[in-house]
Amino acid sequence: MKKLFSLAVTALLLGSMSLGAQPTGACPVIPQVARYVSAGEGSFNLSPGSTYSLKLSGLKEDASAFKAYIENCDLALTPGKKAVVRFIIGPSALKSNLPEGAYKLEVGKKGIDIRSASYEGAFYAVQSLIQLQQHGAIPYCRIEDYPRYGYRGLMFDVVRHFRSKEAVLKQLDAMALLKLNVMHFHITDNEAWRIKLDCAPEMAIEDFYTKDDIREIIAYAAARHIDVVPEIEIPGHNRALLKVHPEFYCSGDHVVDNVFCIGKEEPFEFFFRVLEEVMELFPSQFMHIGGDEADKDNWKLCPLCRERIQKEGLKDEFELQSYCIGRVDQFVSAHGKRMIGWDEIQEGGLSPNATVMSWRGTSGGLKAIGMGHDVIMTPNTYLYLDYGQDAPWKEPAAFNYYLPLKTVYEYEPEDGIDAPEHLLGVQGNLWTELVVTDNHFEYMLYPRAFAVAEVGWSPKGSKDFDTFREKARFLCGVLRSKGYTCFDLDTEYGDRPESLNKIPRITQNAKAVMYIGSNDKTGRETPALVDGYLGGWAMKGKTRWVTANTRAVTIDVDLGEVMDIHYVGAEFVDYKLRRFQAPPDTEFFVSVDGKNYEPLPIGQIKLSPDRQGYAILIAGGTVNVQARYVRLKYNTGKVRVRAFISELIVN
Ligand code: ACM
Ligand code: ZN
Repeated sequence: MKKLFSLAVTALLLGSMSLGAQPTGACPVIPQVARYVSAGEGSFNLSPGSTYSLKLSGLKEDASAFKAYIENCDLALTPGKKAVVRFIIGPSALKSNLPEGAYKLEVGKKGIDIRSASYEGAFYAVQSLIQLQQHGAIPYCRIEDYPRYGYRGLMFDVVRHFRSKEAVLKQLDAMALLKLNVMHFHITDNEAWRIKLDCAPEMAIEDFYTKDDIREIIAYAAARHIDVVPEIEIPGHNRALLKVHPEFYCSGDHVVDNVFCIGKEEPFEFFFRVLEEVMELFPSQFMHIGGDEADKDNWKLCPLCRERIQKEGLKDEFELQSYCIGRVDQFVSAHGKRMIGWDEIQEGGLSPNATVMSWRGTSGGLKAIGMGHDVIMTPNTYLYLDYGQDAPWKEPAAFNYYLPLKTVYEYEPEDGIDAPEHLLGVQGNLWTELVVTDNHFEYMLYPRAFAVAEVGWSPKGSKDFDTFREKARFLCGVLRSKGYTCFDLDTEYGDRPESLNKIPRITQNAKAVMYIGSNDKTGRETPALVDGYLGGWAMKGKTRWVTANTRAVTIDVDLGEVMDIHYVGAEFVDYKLRRFQAPPDTEFFVSVDGKNYEPLPIGQIKLSPDRQGYAILIAGGTVNVQARYVRLKYNTGKVRVRAFISELIVN
């Protein structure tokens, strides 16, 4: 860390910095503070028991909660005369139009002065001090800091795998250190309800929180300036509910088992009772009502849903969903709260008070902002912390995207946004279908949650990944010493090296057409198969892999002219944990005229090292032919194969 500080001193000596300029990497705090200025050589040493004073300046709110926190946090300050940490808190202490949560911190020979307009700002100053102190001593400096966004969240899915109350409280401590201020609590889903409500005790079957547990979590979070936003899934993701309340199904046959009937009144009555109790329990201004991935097939078949569509003058099932969400929005708004829903709630029309949480990339969020709605960005392409963070062969099974620390860090929330005042903030989501243990849960969170914090807090344009990564390595060490599990940046492998640069090939001007299934007569031009790039770890999202889930595939490559060909091959993924397979009998052919094809005497699949059930397999080999057309073909007969092919290699 010494190196980082000396960088700042050097910058000062060179005269290249003034208050307001941010020397890269000068301050070791995550998230990066808005302004940092070194105040000369030297540092101040705090130790447990160091004294503090607290002066309120135009603030009426009682100080006891804040005092309790600073006396019990890592700084373990004690009130005393000749205080070395001096807080002045209140509207007259920090006159500025900086956002809520702003603070000023000055460290010099005589101690530390902190000014903020609110306890929240002082709390964040304390978090910066805690992190600075973790480096040994606090350098003489001046910090002026404030959040970029008011909403800086993490979502915890405690349904797919339950987390104990203690495990949740532990994450709230880490969130506080990172100045994250919203915990979105995903407590109902297909698998279970994790809350025991007075109005629906029958839904609490195993591993759930009592209302007292929830109150304890909320109070613990509130002491750390973290808002707990509950989510109750409506109308989809409700298999657990429908098992207990089959009367909420659509009438007649149903083809999906997790969506309730919009034609019936009983499900609405049930959910209004649930929402009423949940909104009373959680003080948050927000109520998240889900709204994602509701399959509409039952509604198409159900006479009651058809009747509702007709009676309400709706066009289709999308408008029926909108009708449902609109009623919920009215109910939530009438209780003085703000409804949040996943971006699907826009399908069929967005209800007037809705705040949209954009998860399917950013497009849903951009659209909602365009219509004047507030948005929280949590795009899966950057902020889904359940996705794998390194080479799949060294990681626990994860969804088949690749989301390393750098990708999360590089997310710029305002890209494409004209009205940023409607962007409330950002959130990292940790779904837990594949995350079983507390250790695994933390492993997926840290250090990527550090990047979420910096995206949400630090000023636009202030990011520097190399500096951030060094700080993250250090902070992971701190968290480990406190008993957290973190992904190890020291052994990060990075994306597949073979995927980073184009391979030698003669397909620069080639056209590849892919036929999926044995009845596909037209095919689909698929440039990715001849773009020169082999696949990396990302198999969805920003991927170079082309996928087909079928029995038969043919790929025809037209080189544009007859050429000398010395190698033909293709690579596939074999990933047992995710049931991805290389097709067993891949054949290759060549043709001069595009009509008569000759088989090539290759096609055996060679295994690359198979670790953690993951391997990239190569089918191919050397040849010595002249041809214009190359064909890859497989037909497994009866068995469907979920295949991933990155490139048809011709050289
Ligand atoms: C989601 O990931 N279904 C919100
Ligand atoms: Zn129905």
